[in-house]
Amino acid sequence: MVRVRVPATTANLGPGYDVLGLALKLYNTVEIEKSDRLSIEIEGEGADSLPKDELNIVYQAAQEVFKTVNGKPLIVNLKLINNIPLARGLGSSAAARVGALVAANRLIGDKLSQDEILKIAARLEGHPDNVTPALVGGLTISYLVEVKSHSRIPGNTGMAKKEVKYLKIGLPEELKIVLAIPDFEVSTKKAREVLPEEVSLEDAVANMGKTALLVSSLAQGNLRLLDIATQDRLHQPYRAKLIPGMERVFKAALANGAKGVFLSGSGSTIAAFSIGNSEEKNKEIGQAMVSTFQKAGHESHYKILDIDREGAVCL
Ligand code: HSE
Repeated sequence: MVRVRVPATTANLGPGYDVLGLALKLYNTVEIEKSDRLSIEIEGEGADSLPKDELNIVYQAAQEVFKTVNGKPLIVNLKLINNIPLARGLGSSAAARVGALVAANRLIGDKLSQDEILKIAARLEGHPDNVTPALVGGLTISYLVEVKSHSRIPGNTGMAKKEVKYLKIGLPEELKIVLAIPDFEVSTKKAREVLPEEVSLEDAVANMGKTALLVSSLAQGNLRLLDIATQDRLHQPYRAKLIPGMERVFKAALANGAKGVFLSGSGSTIAAFSIGNSEEKNKEIGQAMVSTFQKAGHESHYKILDIDREGAVCL
């Protein structure tokens, strides 16, 4: 039996839409073994709602590995222990897919490279910003680039002609993320549908500047401008209508000691950077975010998380 631990992720980090992602110390576990009859057991998040048949995305991702390497499916037992809340912008589907790909690959003797796993994960997910940090940990800049189709796997002609190029960025040791996780879900599909097809050059330039500022602030550990560096004009303003109280929760986090604040992925979670604060102070940030969400009509809970720097690992 193979067991893989895979982290939650927060994507975009404000201005880095579809590009930036950060792995967090909140984990799902995927267990896989060969079997003569498919069975899927789920504990925790989604235990009652996620499919336990061929429609399950963990099952589907695992089969991508078997088909890619051996050209045929493999019957397996899966056990999923889920701690990452669903449809809250914390990368639950990326974790499911990455966990499945890494576990299935180990089951058949690690035939695929990490880059090949990343390419499949990004194709299944549609964008690379969550799957990259889920696979490699830490803060990543990742981007899909068109490449001439090639694969070292014989007969594998069906791979997407896009590859993920990424860089993992160093982060200050003491960085923590305070999450306010609301009681309502936001589907990524719906949150992408509210975005405009075109944006102004002014907004694009503002986001380029802030993304560059954000990455170098974190890499250098110089957090003086982090509140400005986490601002965004490409997706958060349009998604605000899906997240009641979003701007007020942002203000509450900053007023209570957060260094920057943003919508986690496509929401509904709101995430705040905290650096060098005491545990007490981090709790104050979380409580301020939760009570502000409550005033906007929604229950939520907070979590104070460290950064995961390892990504998916076989246990
Ligand atoms: N970058 C994606 C989006 C992340 O914002 O739609 C989804 O979690």
